Amino acid sequence: MGTRIAGWGSALPHRIVTNAELEKTLDTSDAWIVERTGIRERRIGHSTAELAIEAGRAALACADVEPDTIDLTILCTTTPDQTVPASSAHVSEALGLSGGAFDLNAACSGFAYGIVTAHGLLESGAERILLIGAETLSRIVDWEDRATAVLFGDGAGAVVLERTDDRGQILSWDLGIDGTARHVLKSDVGGTIEMDGPEVFKRAVRAIVHSASRALDGAGVAAEDLRLVVPHQANVRIIRAACDRLGIEHEKAVVVLDRTGNTSAASIPLALVDAIEKNRIEEGDLALLTGFGAGMTWGSVLIRW
Ligand code: ACO
Repeated sequence: MGTRIAGWGSALPHRIVTNAELEKTLDTSDAWIVERTGIRERRIGHSTAELAIEAGRAALACADVEPDTIDLTILCTTTPDQTVPASSAHVSEALGLSGGAFDLNAACSGFAYGIVTAHGLLESGAERILLIGAETLSRIVDWEDRATAVLFGDGAGAVVLERTDDRGQILSWDLGIDGTARHVLKSDVGGTIEMDGPEVFKRAVRAIVHSASRALDGAGVAAEDLRLVVPHQANVRIIRAACDRLGIEHEKAVVVLDRTGNTSAASIPLALVDAIEKNRIEEGDLALLTGFGAGMTWGSVLIRW
C-alpha cells in the first residue's frame, strides 16, 4: 500500500506588500532585504481558514473528487484563527467535507509532518485525505520590528492524498525535533514572533542537511538523482547553503519566497504547486520536500512523481 498525490491547489491574498512599502515605515531597504533573504514582496490578508478553504477547494477540483469522499482533513498551521475550536472545523464546514478534521502545529515543518501523518493514516485504512498548509503570519508579526517584519507573509497550499495498492509516491521520510532550541524562535500566546535570526539560520542549514540525508538514505537515493528540491521558503541563502552541503545544484531548488516571503506551513505546498504548474516535474522524477521550523522541528519527504 502507498500514497498518491491526486490533486493540488494554492491560495494567496490579493494584497501585495513590497519591500519598497516596508521602507516607508521601517528602518530597512529593498537592497538589504533582497540581499540578506531573497524576498521582494509578500502577500497579506484574509484569515487562515479563508486561505485554507480556497486552497482546499482548488485541490479537490484538481483531483476531481467530491468533498463527501474525504475521510480526514489535516490543517497544518502555526496561526489558527482561534485557540479553540481548530480552524479545520471552519474548513470542514465551508467545503462540506466528510470525516474528521484536526489542526497540526509543527511550525514551518508542519506540511512535512502532515504528509507523514496522512501517509500513516492512509496505510491504516483511510482512503482519501485533504492536507492543507495555511498561515496568516502577518497577524503575529511585530510590524515595528525590522528584524522579523520583513520576513513573513500569508498564504495556503493543499494536496489531496489517496491510498494506492502499489508502493505509491512516498518513498521515505524523516521527522525530528530538538526542543532544547525552542527559545531561538517563538511567539507566546497573544504575542508576536521573537527570533534569534543568525542562530536560526545556522541550525536551519544543519537541520535540512541532516534530515534530507536521512530521507535520501532511507530510500537508497543519491542527492544527484533528485530532479527537484522543494524546501521551506525562509531565506534563499539558507536554501543555497543547504544545497551546497548536500551537493545539489541551486537550480533544482524551487524558490517562491521572492513573491511570498516565509509562509511557514504553507511554504512547501505553495512551492510544490508552483513547480507543478511550471512543468518542472514529470512522471518518475524524484523530488525532496524538506523543511525546518520553530521547535526546532525538521522534516523531509522523498517523493517519486
Ligand atoms: N533591514 C536592515 N537591516 C537589518 C534588518 C532589516 N530588515 N534586520 C536586521 N538588520 C541589521 C541588524 O540590526 C544588523 O545590524 P548591525 O550589524 O548594525 O548589528 C545587521 O542587519 C545584520 O543582522 P543579522 O541578524 O546578523 O543579519 P543576517 O545576515 O543574519 O540576516 C536574517 C538576518 C535574514 C533574519 C537571517 O538571520 C535569517 O534568515 N535567519 C533565519 C530566519 C528564519 O529562517 N526564520 C524562520 C524560521 S521558520 C519558522 O518556524 C517561522
